[in-house]
Amino acid sequence: MLLQQRMSWHVWQDNRKKRDIVETKLFADCAADLMQAAALLKQGSVVGIPTETVYGLAADARNPEAVRQIFAAKGRPADNPLIVHIADMAELEQVAAKISPLAIRLAERFWPGPLTMVLPKHPSIPSVTSGGLDTVGVRMPLHPVARALICLSGVSIAAPSANRSGYPSPTIAQHVMRDMQGKIAAVLDGGACTVGVESTVIALEQDDSVRILRPGFVTAEQLETVASHVIVDPAVLHELQKGQTVRSPGMKYQHYSPSARVTLVEGSQTAFAALMEQCSKENGVYALVCHNGQNALSVPAYTYGDTDEEQAQQIFSKLREMDDIGAKHVFVEAPRKEGVGLAVYNRLIRAAGFEVIQV
Ligand code: TXA
Ligand code: MG
Repeated sequence: MLLQQRMSWHVWQDNRKKRDIVETKLFADCAADLMQAAALLKQGSVVGIPTETVYGLAADARNPEAVRQIFAAKGRPADNPLIVHIADMAELEQVAAKISPLAIRLAERFWPGPLTMVLPKHPSIPSVTSGGLDTVGVRMPLHPVARALICLSGVSIAAPSANRSGYPSPTIAQHVMRDMQGKIAAVLDGGACTVGVESTVIALEQDDSVRILRPGFVTAEQLETVASHVIVDPAVLHELQKGQTVRSPGMKYQHYSPSARVTLVEGSQTAFAALMEQCSKENGVYALVCHNGQNALSVPAYTYGDTDEEQAQQIFSKLREMDDIGAKHVFVEAPRKEGVGLAVYNRLIRAAGFEVIQV
């Protein structure tokens, strides 16, 4: 009995050594480090990589063990599928089993770039990567480092956003280091992400129309120039009701939330200022506003940008900053729901756990 216990202790220790990574390396955007990162990907390790949208947690999409490490590092539910990143159209044929004429037209117009298409899965993509679905999300990123890593490693890259599950997505390498230190082999620092929110995820419907499952930098208006019709899935702006089915598993989970409580506020600037006056006695209250030069408020205020594009670029890092400065409750002035603003609104309403007040 004692011997058996000692044996299982050794097996446990051995497995622990295999699984645990003591130190996460920080690579720079230079040829030598790119080669090292590509070699790690090829051999089945997980690497944090820059893309134009947010940083991704990358691994070989066809290596189930490597993909399992992504889920473990993030603490991600196994039924939430990963996006497969490719570098060219020839690679698409190895990832998707069927590519419709509409998919080709969308790829020609928006790739490389922040658009993910949900397509029938190629048999070479393991079920762990697609969260058990028979479809796969595919995207061709624009970021030169992401593209170089796909080419140098020779593998298609599965990559969710590189945050720990539920927390705001990372837009600089330091965010990834903070969330993933000790859990993954390396992070490659490719500078700040230019887009700042994740890609637009779409499903292609029978009749040449497109359904937006997650809004992003590629807007409904832009998609309408290629598809016959664009539908924004109701789950983009509304909380799921009990028992309701979802088109994208990611819609089910709490997302993008800092530790501080977030409340989204809709209404005029004057009404927002009055609300802040009322809340100023509460401990640790901060405001995150979207109008530069807004009149002084009764609580400390930060801006997350004036235009839709600035707001997309800054929102995640500002939410993380709120935790860094010890905010307990953050009131966020709501962005527009049009254009790229819809993506920012979608992230904020989830960060707030659907706590929205009208003033
Ligand atoms: O910009 C991005 O898309 C970033 C960068 C790294 O490329 N990636 C990213 O991945 O945001 P992730 O895993 O954080 O979000 C992917 C979303 C999830 O909500 C997931 O449920 C959905 O896409 N998704 C992936 N594959 C899908 C599929 N086959 N069917 C429906 N939804 C899918
Ligand atoms: Mg994510």
